[in-house]
Amino acid sequence: MAPQENKPSSLVADWSTLHRVFIRPEDESSRKTLVKYMEQILFGLHDFLNKHVGVTEEISLVKLAEEYTDTKINKDPKKKLADVIKDIIDEIAPRAVNVASPYFIGHMTSAIPFFMVHLKAITAALNQNVIKLETSKVLSVLEKQILAKMHRMIFDFKNEFYLEHVQNTETCLGIFTTGGTTANLTALWVARNKCFPPKDDFESIEKNGYFEAMKAYNLEKTVILVSKRGHFSLRKALGILGLGNQNIIPIDVDSNRSIDLIKLEEKTKELQADKKTKILAIIGIAGATETGIIDPLPELADICETHGIHFHVDAAWGGPVLLSDKYSHLLKGIERADSVTIDCHKQFYMPMSSGMVYFKNPKALDQIVYHARYVNRPGSVDLGIKTLEGSREANSLILDSALKIMGSKGYSLMIEHGIETAMQFAKMIKERDLFQLVTTPQLNILTYRVVPKDIQEKLKTADRKERQKLDTVLDDINIQIQRIQREAGKSFVSRTRLKTSSDDDHNTVVLRSVIMNPMTNVDILDEILDEQESIFNDLETQQMIKKT
Ligand SMILES: Cc1ncc(COP(=O)(O)O)c(C=O)c1O
Repeated sequence: MAPQENKPSSLVADWSTLHRVFIRPEDESSRKTLVKYMEQILFGLHDFLNKHVGVTEEISLVKLAEEYTDTKINKDPKKKLADVIKDIIDEIAPRAVNVASPYFIGHMTSAIPFFMVHLKAITAALNQNVIKLETSKVLSVLEKQILAKMHRMIFDFKNEFYLEHVQNTETCLGIFTTGGTTANLTALWVARNKCFPPKDDFESIEKNGYFEAMKAYNLEKTVILVSKRGHFSLRKALGILGLGNQNIIPIDVDSNRSIDLIKLEEKTKELQADKKTKILAIIGIAGATETGIIDPLPELADICETHGIHFHVDAAWGGPVLLSDKYSHLLKGIERADSVTIDCHKQFYMPMSSGMVYFKNPKALDQIVYHARYVNRPGSVDLGIKTLEGSREANSLILDSALKIMGSKGYSLMIEHGIETAMQFAKMIKERDLFQLVTTPQLNILTYRVVPKDIQEKLKTADRKERQKLDTVLDDINIQIQRIQREAGKSFVSRTRLKTSSDDDHNTVVLRSVIMNPMTNVDILDEILDEQESIFNDLETQQMIKKT
């Protein structure tokens, strides 16, 4: 299985070989060969995924890293395309993570429908650059159409609104990004610029900078408010935007594990009264990364409306739930947001990497307009005028095609399966003595931990100090179980830390599962719990537990 040695190559880089590998071959036999390669990619990889149900080949990262230390670029070609493809299938795939396994329930990355590979290949073959019309043509107008469809899914304005804006070159309902991180960054970039309109000599924060903005408005800082469950991309955004990531004010969560509205109101009023501080935005989360919990969006919208604050909803995870007639009510209030982040490579089941951000106001993105003389000229359809990214692939084609293939109903089947399987999983966890459910799933994410029954009993009556001692032992047990299970390579759940009791500072280790693969079912979940139980029984922790 080790990669092949660096043998001297008989292959040469010259114009005739370059010509052969660069240009699509026209003769029949070369075409057949290329089609055969495609078959290998589609079916060779797929066969691998079917054969290797487990998560990944058992090999340590240290050992792997030793094989990847040669840092010289080869001058002459080393391999033919056929050999490269074979190597990837034989050597890379088994050592990559089989995120498509139904036993892989630890992260927000999972199996994608088979046809996505075709759509990704088509996008690469077309190689359109949607930064500008001159390199994308129909893809630019198609992108505007799918953006309008998604905007409608979120904000549901009247038909006339969409007729006016769908192909309007002056307005923009949203943009594609590389993911949720850049979508959140774009939303806060727009919100930041909107927050400081021109005043006297001050033109804009984009032009004059943060220091001048603070001076013009006689302020000392600008903050955003989000629950403690806010994604760390928000911290990056405040860093990049020059506002300082310490100016994210984390608000506690309540017993439902969503943002504590009383604390949020108190903090908002306190900050509004402080004339030196400006609240840039309040962020609601629709599907928190660690727990899947949705904040009370209508109430957040009320607070933002009352105080005139930008309301951003981070629906990177939960956004596609809007396609489900059965569960879209969970996101009620999202239509009142000023901006909304949704990831394509999460619950739109698209390949890496693609996200989107939407704005209620079709003029909102004017806050970040950039023109260049050679491209993105004023008044043009060029989609790069209002995006953080420059050159960009046509991910809109993949989303548009996927919706054509599956319809919103196809997506809702997968989304409903995830939510309902997570509910069943929660029930199974509760029925087992060894486990404690920590967060009940609202969507398809839940957390739990291994807590032997006797410790569960002790925890009920333990005082704060005793509880922390017991929790520390439990943390160690859960870390070990998660690691051993991951390294065994059959199944995978992730882990994080959450507060399990409202009066403790201690963040306890919890196992986190994300049920998004439509092939994950209760039998598989049962096996995963069985495996965790058997790892626990094998651990020499009984000793430690007795000591406590
Ligand atoms: C709620 C939330 N927001 C933002 C992000 C960042 O998205 P990405 O990893 O696509 O940049 C994530 C990723 O997990 C997320 O869960």
